[in-house]
Amino acid sequence: MNERDHPAVRQEPWAGPPIVELRGVHLEFEGKPILRHLNLRVERKQRMVIMGQSGAGKSTLLRLILGILQPSAGSILFQGRNLNHASRREVNESRIKMGMVYQSSALISSLTVRDNLALPLEELTHKRRAEIDRIVEEKLALVGMEETGPLLPNELSGGMRKRVAIARALVLEPELLLFDEPTTGLDPVLSSVIDELIISLTDKAHTTSIIVTHELSSAFHIATRIAMLFQGRIIEEDRPERFRASHNPVVEQFIEGRTEGPIH
Ligand SMILES: Nc1ncnc2c1ncn2[C@@H]1O[C@H](COP(=O)(O)OP(=O)(O)O)[C@@H](O)[C@H]1O
Ligand SMILES: [Mg+2]
Repeated sequence: MNERDHPAVRQEPWAGPPIVELRGVHLEFEGKPILRHLNLRVERKQRMVIMGQSGAGKSTLLRLILGILQPSAGSILFQGRNLNHASRREVNESRIKMGMVYQSSALISSLTVRDNLALPLEELTHKRRAEIDRIVEEKLALVGMEETGPLLPNELSGGMRKRVAIARALVLEPELLLFDEPTTGLDPVLSSVIDELIISLTDKAHTTSIIVTHELSSAFHIATRIAMLFQGRIIEEDRPERFRASHNPVVEQFIEGRTEGPIH
């Protein structure tokens, strides 16, 4: 694979600032460092896959980008705007441009699928009922779930819930989509369906996405860039084919699934 296979990630001179940039981000929980002066840039239209062991801090990283958590040091920039020094209104403006697909899908169990999708539109926009209904139908159709509108989340299979969660993340037309382990717990066929969905959605809507996963086949299939989080830092970040050829012992061990090496 070469650069031409991913024309969307080629950097144009007018592309502007990276959509997300983490500079020296440090975070401790109860005195224990989780992220250690971490740096990461995500350019527009990329599909950045973040890999790392369980407990490495991948979900924490997504929560920092979303602005749910604040770093103890360092800065997080969204479209060039430093979220740590922004007003509440500016933070909300940025947050509305991000869609998040949680590992657990996080749908509201007492609301129908349709109402789950309508909720962000009702709470965060001034759109009228008919417009909201149209958007909800459109996003459900995008993920092939148009029949599920009247159902409750617990009437759906895990794979269907995941697709609905993706549709919900799309209702505000986000510029950045964050996925936390979107295929964990799904069978291989459903995993491929979700992978293809992530690729087609980001291609079609020119959206950037950050996908946390530890499933190698998904990672190499989806990614235009892969980053490896280890001991609180991004220790490798590259195009998939170069990542696969990395001689970093942590990356090699992770890719080969060996028990011997720096990861234990
Ligand atoms: N709110 C929190 N309070 C204390 N520790 C936390 C909190 N959230 C996460 N952690 C700890 O931070 C580390 C990273 O967690 P997480 O980001 O969920 O890892 P990952 O998603 O890579 O599996 C873990 O050791 C976890 O126990
Ligand atoms: Mg996690």
